[in-house]
Amino acid sequence: MNLTPKEIVEYLDQYVISQKDAKKTIALALRTRYRRMQLNDELKNEITPKNILMIGSTGVGKTEISRRLAKMMKVPFIKVEASKYTEVGFVGRDVESMIRDLVVNSISIVKAEQEEANKEKIDNYIINKITEKLLPPLPAGASQSKKDDYQRLLQVMEKRVESGEMDDKVIELELEKLNVEFNDTNLPPEMAKVQESFSKVFAQINKEDNKKEMTVKDAKILLRQEASVKLLDMTRVNAEALRRAENGGIIFLDEIDKIALSEKSQGRNDPSKEGVQRDLLPIVEGSSVSTKYGTINTDHILFIAAGAFHVSKPSDLIPELQGRFPLRVELESLTEDTLYQILTQTHNSLLKQYEALLGVEGMQLTFEDEAVKAIAKLAHRANENAEDIGARRLHTVLERILEDISFHADEYKDKEFIVTAELVHEKLDEAVEDEDLSRYIL
Ligand SMILES: Nc1ncnc2c1ncn2[C@@H]1O[C@H](COP(=O)(O)OP(=O)(O)OP(=O)(O)O)[C@@H](O)[C@H]1O
Ligand SMILES: [Mg+2]
Repeated sequence: MNLTPKEIVEYLDQYVISQKDAKKTIALALRTRYRRMQLNDELKNEITPKNILMIGSTGVGKTEISRRLAKMMKVPFIKVEASKYTEVGFVGRDVESMIRDLVVNSISIVKAEQEEANKEKIDNYIINKITEKLLPPLPAGASQSKKDDYQRLLQVMEKRVESGEMDDKVIELELEKLNVEFNDTNLPPEMAKVQESFSKVFAQINKEDNKKEMTVKDAKILLRQEASVKLLDMTRVNAEALRRAENGGIIFLDEIDKIALSEKSQGRNDPSKEGVQRDLLPIVEGSSVSTKYGTINTDHILFIAAGAFHVSKPSDLIPELQGRFPLRVELESLTEDTLYQILTQTHNSLLKQYEALLGVEGMQLTFEDEAVKAIAKLAHRANENAEDIGARRLHTVLERILEDISFHADEYKDKEFIVTAELVHEKLDEAVEDEDLSRYIL
């Protein structure tokens, strides 16, 4: 994807309010990858990405930024929680598995592209297979005129299969290879190979059972898988996927603060946290990881780590790991004004979501502007009085305002319900001002 930094920021602006610095840094990092890819090999290999550490308290948009990037970018991208990994030797997922996950993600991108490029071939394969089932072949030695008739019939039938006219018809189909892939990327490649040969044996045994009755509609879906395995050159797909993951892959390491060892909580620390950090070092720095699809070098994979760092600080990470995330961006806490903008200016904002949900009941929900302002103000106040949970406060606050209305929605069928500032204050004032209450209900 060759979006300019400005375009990336513009896209993010639709979903994430403020947090300019974070957006800018990330957009720039992405553009640098693109620029690097245009260089000659010698220079290209010299340039390693500068990994990013996003710091910001809870609910200010860290995960949201990455989620939106993931949707937009056509590059291999995965988001993982640092806290779910365990040190090598402990039971659980080892950190290398994130690289394998990235490769699998890359494969699905390349495969989808190839499927799109070979759409016609794949469609033809599917339609031919189904038509064959619907029109049994002529017996050998049929006369020429029979053959001509048959050809005509075949064409008509193909059209009807294609148009969906035959979708409800039931056919018997044997699928060539049902258990196409397990794709359990948690397994190191040696284990994956063993698993693969097992599944091959089972596929052999199951061959007889693969004959199944199904509608043409279902057959179209199932045959698509078979067609892409048969028609696409999967070795090439895998090779291209590896190359892309290597050069353009992005791993978003969320909750990195959860594996930091803070002095305050020393007693409760899980001994494997530091182990996970150590295991991360070679991967972030650049090393080779073997996957089922081949070996991948992690030198040029971009890592974006994020954490709230409430209990711990970035300096509680082991120094070697800190050093591998040279770009730091801080996300701002959300002000009343930002909260207001989050409610009113984001694509699919919470208000729009509620309006749509209650619209299903035939109720027209409208928010007065004054009411929205009051919501932002009270949400902000609640964040100050109790814990600052950022934009997540808006969820709890709105839920409290709309709970009753939502419950009685059936009474408002074909009617409008206007959320006024008075209603907002009536529902919230007490809870927001009373510290204890706001701890529990908001
Ligand atoms: N700046 C923002 N603009 C728009 N929406 C936001 C913003 N910040 C947070 N949100 C909304 O608040 C919710 C929580 O945000 P998000 O998941 O990004 O939090 P986070 O920063 O990752 O917090 P945590 O540290 O707890 O993981 C999401 O629904 C998101 O849409
Ligand atoms: Mg998060």
